[in-house]
Amino acid sequence: MPRIPTGLQSRVMSAEKAGQLITSGMTLGMSGFTLVGYPKALPEALVASGHAKDLTVCTGASVGDDMDGVMAKAGIIKRRYSYQSNKSMRTLINEGSIGYIDMHLSHVPTFVNRRMGGIHIDAAIIECAAVTEEGLIPAASMGASDAFVRMADKVIIELNETIPLDIIGMHDVFDIGVPPNARPIPITHPLDRVGVNFIPCPPEKIAAIVVTQLPDKSPAFAEPTEVSRVIGRHIIKFLQSEVAAGRMPENLLPLQSGVGSVANAVLQAFADSGFRDLTMYTETFQDSALELLDQGIILGATTCAVSFSANLQKHFYDNLAAYREKLILRSQELSNSPELIRRLGLVSMNTPIEVDIYGNVNSTHIAGSTVMNGIGGSGDFTRNASLNIFATESVGKAGAISCVVPMVSHVDHTEHDTQIIVTEQGVADLRWKTPRERAELLIEKCAHPDYRPMLRDYVTQAAKTAKGQHTPHDLSQALSWHQRFLATGSMK
Ligand code: COA
Repeated sequence: MPRIPTGLQSRVMSAEKAGQLITSGMTLGMSGFTLVGYPKALPEALVASGHAKDLTVCTGASVGDDMDGVMAKAGIIKRRYSYQSNKSMRTLINEGSIGYIDMHLSHVPTFVNRRMGGIHIDAAIIECAAVTEEGLIPAASMGASDAFVRMADKVIIELNETIPLDIIGMHDVFDIGVPPNARPIPITHPLDRVGVNFIPCPPEKIAAIVVTQLPDKSPAFAEPTEVSRVIGRHIIKFLQSEVAAGRMPENLLPLQSGVGSVANAVLQAFADSGFRDLTMYTETFQDSALELLDQGIILGATTCAVSFSANLQKHFYDNLAAYREKLILRSQELSNSPELIRRLGLVSMNTPIEVDIYGNVNSTHIAGSTVMNGIGGSGDFTRNASLNIFATESVGKAGAISCVVPMVSHVDHTEHDTQIIVTEQGVADLRWKTPRERAELLIEKCAHPDYRPMLRDYVTQAAKTAKGQHTPHDLSQALSWHQRFLATGSMK
């Protein structure tokens, strides 16, 4: 099959020429999710030309340095929506030069589709493996691309010839519609296919096709540390006890696993767990998940992106036809759909920055003010999963930071949502626990022994000074650990 049908050959042009279709002040809906499937030639062309400034860039989630990094450093982005993990972008956001709106990932396509808050996509720029008369075959991520294409005035395609055409058939695109005519999503199993395998797009909307051979910059995963292996084993033991108690089927419920190295290490622990016939309903599918698929431990998955390190990416593309039977790439409107997450009864596993003694979780900010990445899908999954787990090392920066603190410096997941907190020290099951019971569990089971006496002292002091005894805090001291960290580099 040709990657570009004859009728669309006339739209093929250089990145420089396609870049001229973008003008200052535009809002761009760009493809990309967990560092894959994002445009690479257009960002470079826009930066080289410099004619388009004050751009608002909205993506599904994180993209590579060759998009976020180069555009941020060139100073052509004014506002950035929904999720980023790029160092240069983060620096400029934290300096106040780029406005960043960090959103639940499920909200992005929903807001775009309904024009909520007045959002209007001037141009969608989408990396694809192929184009047909009916629409686009996206590359390695779906993100919010279907919503961007649907709502944009015009569509610019980066057609990446390095993506094997065997990817055709891996995507599943289903238009929910908008209220009052929104449709129920007929997915009852993570591997159900319910839509079409392309993003519908009328040919007249395609303004340009830029042919590239630029590979995704693969993410790198740190080798699991012994500490993260211990965290993984705690989670497995906990899940085994849930099965033994009859609260979970033997092959568990569909799993969601978050971003980063700890999340990757946690999934690795399933290899020796004895669990079999697992499924995943998740937004990103990383190295360890692919290894579990190869071992037959995971039967298949819905994901919004396939995000592998360089070696595994090659292995994946070499065997794409076989993986197409087991992996479904869906838009984040479906992969992160609160309704589906709740109905399928997911087990969610995400990584916090810090958790406080009452179980509030901070996933996004260092010491209250500095944003790290964003909430991503962690809110979509945590709030709606049947079982949610947050796993982190008990200390950071060689012990200078406690990940269990008196009060989190920023709240992403409230005590009303969080259930299970895991560190290498142990597991705190917060379900049906009062705030004071939670504090005891989190200190004794999860906090590092070096910080336990300080946390116990805080609890005693809070009980003495607080007016109310339901969730006692000493407001003069609650954030003193963060103040100390900012002043001295250590919470001790
Ligand atoms: N105080 C200060 N700094 C902290 C900290 C704390 N409590 N906890 C972590 N950090 C720092 C680390 O030291 C590290 O800094 P460095 O880059 O200077 O080394 C950085 O934050 C990242 O920590 P690390 O433990 O390496 O990160 P990770 O790869 O395990 O990811 C999150 C952790 C929270 C950053 C990541 O999971 C995230 O962005 N989560 C939000 C989105 C999400 O959960 N999505 C899930 C759906 S896919």
